[in-house]
Amino acid sequence: GRVIRVALLGCGTVGGEVVRLLTEQAEELAARAGARVELAGIAVRRPDKHPELPPELVTSDVTKLVTSPDVDVVVELVGGIEPVRQWLLDALKAGKSVVTANKALLAEHSAELFEAADAAGVDLYFEAAVAGAIPLLRPLRESMAGDRITRVMGIVNGTTNYILSAMDSTGAGYAETLEEASRLGYAEADPTADVDGYDAASKAAILASLAFHTRVTASDVHREGIADVTASDLAAANVLGRTVKLLAICERVTADDGTESVSARVHPVMIPRGHQLAGVGGAYNAVYVEADAAGELMFYGQGAGGAPTASAVLGDLVAVARNRVVGGRGPRESAHAALPVRPMGQT
Ligand code: NDP
Ligand code: HSE
Repeated sequence: GRVIRVALLGCGTVGGEVVRLLTEQAEELAARAGARVELAGIAVRRPDKHPELPPELVTSDVTKLVTSPDVDVVVELVGGIEPVRQWLLDALKAGKSVVTANKALLAEHSAELFEAADAAGVDLYFEAAVAGAIPLLRPLRESMAGDRITRVMGIVNGTTNYILSAMDSTGAGYAETLEEASRLGYAEADPTADVDGYDAASKAAILASLAFHTRVTASDVHREGIADVTASDLAAANVLGRTVKLLAICERVTADDGTESVSARVHPVMIPRGHQLAGVGGAYNAVYVEADAAGELMFYGQGAGGAPTASAVLGDLVAVARNRVVGGRGPRESAHAALPVRPMGQT
């Protein structure tokens, strides 16, 4: 039967779980995808640190792996912008479909990546880049493509939610909780990306771009992290019957003269305890989507961690494999309405 050959870039928290699930569920995945999904190679920075992997698959020569004629799909779980951007452009140009969880890269360079995917007629899927295990991008790109979305709002960073929830419920300290979030595999390699709101801002840019069919980059997003949220802030919120959550808020804004624009921002918000978002604990995420015809929808689940994120990556991998089996493609980047993005800080 047909075989889809996968190059895996990165085998850390998420990549390690992808390898485990691909191996443990090989038969089921083959049945669902209509092809065996096999690893053609695994690129890591330090091959000697990976005795758990089959040595014949491990390499540090990423450029060679991503353009190898033996590869159909590249799954990128390294993170960061360069050199990953160049690897993925090389892969797309060489006709490989790409699956990535790299929100930082997508929030800066999605236009270039989408163009390369369109030019080559291949897929670019990235469900894991926002809200971990939660199916959210496919619903925005596909299920809701017939509706007019007006707002996307919620908790999109697991690390900061884990920290705020712990500080709120047990009075645990900021530094120790951040360390625990890193140990549990929730935090970015550089956790300032989480606590200073950069990670949530990247996700807000991706959500706003998909929801409003326009181009929003991370630098368009007004950003405030949780570094200044103290134990006494949480105690004060508690007295008011509230708690503090870091929210990403993306809105379609209509001015008095009827012109439309998009606003995206990330900042801590005091939320009444009775609100559903106040009950979102640990590394869970929750996102509300409002649309003209659908009304309000809520998406909830594990937003970070190896296995939850790998679930979304494997879903993309099966989708891409199915598309290749039938010689088709998934959704292209939807034609962009020229909806202007509001300057940072204006709401
Ligand atoms: P890790 O730091 O755990 O793993 C990164 C992997 O990339 C490691 O295997 C590392 O190799 C490899 N790597 C780093 N630099 C290079 C290089 N120059 N060449 C080849 N390989 C390299 O990261 P995560 O698994 O946590 O995250 C991966 C991606 O997924 C990131 O984009 C992250 O933002 C995203 N993501 C993470 C989530 C999470 O909960 N952790 C959730 C959603 C998205 P080595 O093992 O040798 O060091
Ligand atoms: N560091 C990210 C978070 C990983 O904590 O949400 C999931 O994207």
